[in-house]
Amino acid sequence: MLNLKRLSISIGTNFPMTVEQQRWATRIGLVLAMAGNAVGLGNFLRFPVQAAQNGGGAFMIPYLIALLVMGFPLMWLEWAIGRQGGLHGQNSTVGIFDKLSRFRIAKYLGILGVFIPFTIIVYYMYIESWCLGYSFFSITGKYFGILSRPEMSEFLGSFQGKAENSHFSGLGLAYFFFLITFALNMFVLSKGIARGIELLARVCLPLIAIFAVILLVRVITLGTPDPAYPDQNISNGFGFLWNPNFAELNNAKIWLAAAGQVFFTLSLGMGAIPTFASYVKKDDDIALNAVATAATNETAEVVLGGSIAIPVAFAFFGLTETIAIAQGGAFDLGFQSLPIIFQKLPIGELFGFIWFLLLFIAGLTSSVALLQPAIAFFENELNWTRQKSTVAIGTVLFLCAQPVIFWIGHGVLDEIDYWVGTLLLVVMALIEIILFLWLEDGKKLWKELDIGADLKIPKIFYFIIKYVTPAYLIILLGYWTIKDGIGILMMDGVADKNVPYLWFARGMMLLLIAGMAVIIGKNRRRHKGATQ
Ligand code: PHE
Repeated sequence: MLNLKRLSISIGTNFPMTVEQQRWATRIGLVLAMAGNAVGLGNFLRFPVQAAQNGGGAFMIPYLIALLVMGFPLMWLEWAIGRQGGLHGQNSTVGIFDKLSRFRIAKYLGILGVFIPFTIIVYYMYIESWCLGYSFFSITGKYFGILSRPEMSEFLGSFQGKAENSHFSGLGLAYFFFLITFALNMFVLSKGIARGIELLARVCLPLIAIFAVILLVRVITLGTPDPAYPDQNISNGFGFLWNPNFAELNNAKIWLAAAGQVFFTLSLGMGAIPTFASYVKKDDDIALNAVATAATNETAEVVLGGSIAIPVAFAFFGLTETIAIAQGGAFDLGFQSLPIIFQKLPIGELFGFIWFLLLFIAGLTSSVALLQPAIAFFENELNWTRQKSTVAIGTVLFLCAQPVIFWIGHGVLDEIDYWVGTLLLVVMALIEIILFLWLEDGKKLWKELDIGADLKIPKIFYFIIKYVTPAYLIILLGYWTIKDGIGILMMDGVADKNVPYLWFARGMMLLLIAGMAVIIGKNRRRHKGATQ
């Protein structure tokens, strides 16, 4: 069980410290542990793709707005909901929503907070395993010698089983790495050694930062790789991301993608934060910790995640090709551009090996955290032991992962990532605001953030979260529904051969939600009968 308090005090107890030093050591430990959860594949792999797909400088404007207007205030709201729910002995949003809201429907809406992280993990774990694979490919020098975009795409494609090629037949290998990753996740889960993993995260997070800075320096000094294409250079690569582009701002999809990415990377709108926060004590600080975690995550994402994959892809492959890679897969860009850098570094094999391994560990800490809401759900709702829950979760997870792995070429992974990893996060955030700030005593809940707080949250944020954030979300969802929603729902522009696969993916998601609703319906009645 993730016990954040226990986790945080284990740091720095080996040598004498003043009370004040102890407090700071505790804080740093807690923030690193939480940031270890938040910093993951979203920062280094998903962010560059989202930014490239959505016009670089056009994406960053809604991204930064979403961060300020929604990211920070929602972070506080979710921590407050979680801590409050924990005081009632509830750890999944199903139980938390049930206790904190007087409406019967709340617990059903809380299903989203279990469904979303669980469904994300169905594909997240697979991508995590690619990191392990690429770590292996680095140390064995497998991709060394490949510098062109078609060949790099082919390499990744054959690994993913999307294309047959001459380099190697990849899917078997990909499946092998997936099995290792799956087994490792299940092992961590069943042993309840999340704490050990968190400790690992604490070591790895600073290491990731150090390695990322080294990569960054190499990226900056790449200049113009091919003098035949003078425009394809690193500074234009940075310009693509950082030159604001106002022309595209009337595009609803970009605004939704930006909000979705902010939520994905901060782990918001998915029920994960309320679950973690339900394990902190009544008077633990959450106000400052939430900000520090978010700030650490954003530095990793925007400064480090944004400065490596995109500029390199731009300088080596050019703008059109970079966008084409991004369009080809929601997590692909880093796997195609980073190997280029490693070939431009001394002892690049070792460097690439360590980098992808670190990314794998960052992914592992995140996937273990993503599984926590489902565990909490089974423990709270069904009173199942950890072992039994792990077996159940593992079985469903394994089954759901198969279509993602084998039908990736039909767009199953990206389809799930779109609905769950973008749209539903935004919907869930809106539900939380309506339930707890509009329909219940929002002021009281917000005030509870002051308990044990080391940071006084400026008053303006209550106004923002109560009115500005929901207005923003409602306009965003409304605009998106009118402009793009119907078309996306009806799969306009999707190749005919992919349509049945994508409907399968949607059916699978609906089935998961229905299954959870049935469990709740049955067991809540039993619980109530037993306890009242
Ligand atoms: N925020 C993580 C990422 O960017 C994903 C995640 C979500 C991790 C929820 C833990 C819990 O990759």
